[in-house]
Amino acid sequence: MALERFDHHSSMEELREDYSKIQGVYASAIREVNARLQTLNDEFSFRHRHNPIHHIESRVKSLNSIIKKLRAMEAPVSIINAKKLLNDIAGVRVVCRYVDDIYRIANLLLSQDDVLLILEKDYIKNPKPNGYRSLHIVVDVPVYRIEGKLYIPVEIQIRTVAMDFWATLEHGIRYKATEEVPEHIGRELKECADVIFETDDRMQAVFKALQQVHDRVDDDWPIEPPDEMSQYGG
Ligand code: GTP
Ligand code: MG
Repeated sequence: MALERFDHHSSMEELREDYSKIQGVYASAIREVNARLQTLNDEFSFRHRHNPIHHIESRVKSLNSIIKKLRAMEAPVSIINAKKLLNDIAGVRVVCRYVDDIYRIANLLLSQDDVLLILEKDYIKNPKPNGYRSLHIVVDVPVYRIEGKLYIPVEIQIRTVAMDFWATLEHGIRYKATEEVPEHIGRELKECADVIFETDDRMQAVFKALQQVHDRVDDDWPIEPPDEMSQYGG
């Protein structure tokens, strides 16, 4: 086996070839996470008539982004270093409806005995100074290859629809700006993030209140119709 050299700078040709070798494994890890999330969402929806997950996005980090990030870290650019230094080659974004759903989904996934928590950053309990909120976890998930089982890290960002709305627009604004965003714009974005979070809280309260009403109605109206009603049914 070739000795792994972390100080080695790969040529563009080597990078392309090595990247094409690892891409599939990271894509498999994403599929694994997606399948588990989908299963949890389906089961939750069946039991509680509520879909905690609104939608899921995912991507394998492009070779260009990998090169950019390693350069920014001042690390020699190679796929070996990418595997060693980057947690987010495989990335999954789970957009939930309500804040409670975020923790529900995270806990259910982490309770699976072959999902190993590597890193957790709770930017909901501790928002970033700019107002960014999301729960980030990095987990190792098993991928079965011909040679056997491999654990692959996947960065999972879990946020509400509202947090996603802010993060998407903020990212666009910051990305488009050629210079540092002026201070008063930063303050404005932060205020928007706080208002959005307060709204998230209120929407969650509305949902909870409505659920209680529905639960009472369901008690009065059993799901199985009584016999005398079935003649009206099909
Ligand atoms: P990266 O080098 O960007 O991966 O940062 P990190 O290693 O410190 O990890 P962190 O958990 O802070 O952020 C990882 C990812 O979360 C980013 O690549 C973004 O997708 C998202 N993110 C983090 N902070 C912000 C933010 O302020 N605004 C937006 N829109 N997204 C953010
Ligand atoms: Mg990242």
